[in-house]
Amino acid sequence: MSLARLNEPAPEFEAASTHGKIKLSDYKGKWVVLFSHPADFTPVCTTEFGGFAERTAEFEKRGVQLIGLSVDGVQSHIAWAQDIEQIFGHKVTFPIIADLDREVSNAYGMVQPGESSTNAVRAVFFIDDKGTLRAMIYYPLNVGRNMAEILRVVDALQTADANGVATPANWEPGKPVVVPPPANSNAVETQEEAKQKGYDYKRWYLRMKNL
Ligand code: BEZ
Repeated sequence: MSLARLNEPAPEFEAASTHGKIKLSDYKGKWVVLFSHPADFTPVCTTEFGGFAERTAEFEKRGVQLIGLSVDGVQSHIAWAQDIEQIFGHKVTFPIIADLDREVSNAYGMVQPGESSTNAVRAVFFIDDKGTLRAMIYYPLNVGRNMAEILRVVDALQTADANGVATPANWEPGKPVVVPPPANSNAVETQEEAKQKGYDYKRWYLRMKNL
């Protein structure tokens, strides 16, 4: 059973990786994007890793450590990472976990037997700097992930934390954010009061503002 649930501590792990033995708690104080892929030397995964390698600096700019994972071994990961660098011209600088015994995969619910009985699906876990699991996304084997969307989720979580707001559908940095709805009926404000605060008032429960 997966132990990975939103707004709870992300399951701790100690695992062999291309950077030696790593633990999730080694990264406390940083955000972590932990992502699994079904298998090394497969076409969709290779394009995804090219994408992650290309955009590693953008994750680092946001204080995010990338960690990859599959049920392949360390030697396979190292050989594949070299191939990815040759194909795309971007070095894979982040660790890739070799989860041969599926300990990490099982803790995070990465193996979903309906999709693949042996390999991890394409899962992404967003873990904040306190080690709390903040978001998860799962994709099937035949749909490659979108790096821009993963960066967007990091931006949305960090913006929400920093400003006590939420982010609306299709939000991107620089766009208006959602003011949390009033906690109770006494806190409901008039349209005029909302406008004086600089809010774009749509309804009592839907108010937007620029940061
Ligand atoms: C792929 O990355 O292309 C792939 C991986 C596992 C199963 C099917 C496709």
